[in-house]
Amino acid sequence: MSRGRRFLAALATLGVAGAAAFLLLTRPASLAEGAVPNHVADLRNGEVMYHAGSCVACHRAAEGGPGADRGLPAGGFAFPTPVGRFYPQNLTPDPETGLGRWSERDFVAAMTLGVSPAGRHYFPAFPYAAYRSMTKADLLDLFAYLKSLPAVKAPARPHELPLLPLAQRGVGLWKQLALRAEPWAPPPGRSASWTRGAYLANAPGHCGECHTPKDWAMVADESRHMAGGPHPAGEGKVPSLRGLLAAKKYKDVADLALALSAGEELGYENLSSGGMAAIQQNLARLPDSDLQAIAEYLLSLE
Ligand code: HEC
Ligand code: HEC
Repeated sequence: MSRGRRFLAALATLGVAGAAAFLLLTRPASLAEGAVPNHVADLRNGEVMYHAGSCVACHRAAEGGPGADRGLPAGGFAFPTPVGRFYPQNLTPDPETGLGRWSERDFVAAMTLGVSPAGRHYFPAFPYAAYRSMTKADLLDLFAYLKSLPAVKAPARPHELPLLPLAQRGVGLWKQLALRAEPWAPPPGRSASWTRGAYLANAPGHCGECHTPKDWAMVADESRHMAGGPHPAGEGKVPSLRGLLAAKKYKDVADLALALSAGEELGYENLSSGGMAAIQQNLARLPDSDLQAIAEYLLSLE
């Protein structure tokens, strides 16, 4: 073999080995046996999780599309990101175009592993990196709540993303970094309301998706938890949620809880732009005790 040929052969071998490693590293995980416990659903709690998670902020119906008039999460509304435009799917129980045929196991796998029933990786624009820290009971209640909504027929629109299939598989590499640590769990030894607030903010609330800066690999830099960062849509800044008391942004827990529930309506202008308005409108539907708990947790971040 000539030198040139040998080089090409080596390159081809490396290529095959590289592709095999890529495929192995990016293989979608599946849920362990027994990962979904038997559970009697609590629809009221499911509704709280739905609002805490701001599901409808991303999964809302396309303007004028089916379900839009009733505020249902029928999907189709564009969700722009720096890498492309997503169209989050229909979460209503329509059997053809929504979650009607999904099992509890399908749902838990989507929310905790970011894997679809057909075994493909979901893009992390779907904040499963946070939702995976929700308890199984809360996930199953949320699923039951979604199943109790009116079914809307609204087929998914394809995402507008360059190199879609390769990018989809490449998400597996990102997961190796981003989902490596154990799911978040509240530290012990705090008050019940602080613990509740920390859970709501970090698991369903996915506040850190915007408020925690990300490193070079787009993985949250937890050493700077909630310290602010670039806006996920590519424009503007997301403020830090640390030291809000010292900066005199809010007087006390009651003041911040009121800001979260009323937002701009009562003149709290710092919660009205860059995706925060939609989050605030969802938080506004939480029970008052939960808003107090979130506020207590946030004001403890120095
Ligand atoms: C920040 C935006 C955002 C929020 C908030 C969000 N999602 Fe999504 N979700 C997405 C995107 C984007 C996708 C599509 C991912 C893909 O196709 O790779 C998605 C996909 C899904 C899917 C898969 C649907 C299918 O047909 O395969 C489920 C299930 C889902 N989300 C549930 C939820 C639930 C439940 C909540 C609230 C707790 C929620 N999402 C909140 C952006 C979001
Ligand atoms: C989609 C991105 C996004 C998510 C998710 C998000 N925020 Fe925000 N948040 C923002 C942006 C952007 C602002 C600044 C808005 C403005 O100045 O109008 C903001 C502002 C705030 C402020 C006001 C800060 C100040 O300086 O007064 C608070 C409080 C806040 N967010 C709390 C939360 C909580 C609690 C959550 C989770 C339940 C959350 N945010 C989730 C983007 C987000």
